[in-house]
Amino acid sequence: MQARELLLEAAAKLKEAGIANPWFEAQLLLGWVLDKDQAAVLAQDCQLSDQQAKEFRQGVEERRKRKPLAYITGLKPFLHWDFSVNEDVLIPRPETEILVELAVQELKKAFPGQSVLVADIGAGSGAIGLSMLMLLPSARLCAVDASPPALRMAQTNAAKFGLSQRATFFSGDLLAPLAQLRGQFACIVANLPYVAAEEYANLQPEITEYEPREALVSGPDGLWHYRRLLRQAADYLLPGGMLFVEIGCTQGPEMQKLFCGHGFAAPHVEKDLAGLARIVWGAKT
Ligand SMILES: C[S@@+](CC[C@H](N)C(=O)[O-])C[C@H]1O[C@@H](n2cnc3c(N)ncnc32)[C@H](O)[C@@H]1O
Repeated sequence: MQARELLLEAAAKLKEAGIANPWFEAQLLLGWVLDKDQAAVLAQDCQLSDQQAKEFRQGVEERRKRKPLAYITGLKPFLHWDFSVNEDVLIPRPETEILVELAVQELKKAFPGQSVLVADIGAGSGAIGLSMLMLLPSARLCAVDASPPALRMAQTNAAKFGLSQRATFFSGDLLAPLAQLRGQFACIVANLPYVAAEEYANLQPEITEYEPREALVSGPDGLWHYRRLLRQAADYLLPGGMLFVEIGCTQGPEMQKLFCGHGFAAPHVEKDLAGLARIVWGAKT
């Protein structure tokens, strides 16, 4: 069957299902089935085998039911790398890339040339911590998640990127599994759940029906996890060590107060590309 014919059929079905960019998503799905990038899919009106056409139509069916594209393909691009994902982990978001870039930049300034130890708390797929290892070739990582299946996906990604020797994985609550390493971290990064319980029901079906609820919801105001993290974080950092967290866009002022009250002076709030407050960070006083 001709690729163009299948693309037209798929785009019409996705549009009918209310998918915002049906043509674009149809191309991405076709690229995944053919193992080609989008430009190659567009450039060639190639012929698909019956098996490929079947696989493509199955993908379109799943997408019609609002399954996120990343869970269909099993891949999500994050910074320069394709992370493997499944329904045990949150799909890494583009706004989280800013946290990685900022943390790497500040680590290079604060600990130049040093072999630093980084903690990624709520590691999920490992997108934050493993990307930092790729950008900081002498760094080592301790990745913690409360979900053992999520941690397995992070380990899969570490192996995929050749980082297993520099990363250690811990199952447990926040910093508790790292108690023996208290005072040794140059940096703690965390994208913990931050959605308020009553906001959760208003999120898109792609999120509420497929992504793990325990990766998103954090008590009545979305700050249950971060309040507990802030009580522990400074004890785990070296002098001058830094904490970086991703937040919801209205949580900046409250998070700044939490930072100030727990051993971090003059915390910064950084915006994402949409101009929304997204990261809070500060150095231990
Ligand atoms: C918003 S997801 C972020 C995943 C990944 N860091 C990213 O940025 O894509 C939050 C993660 O925190 C984990 N988590 C939830 N509660 C936790 C806790 N008490 N201790 C450690 N991890 C927790 C969830 O299992 C989930 O993987």
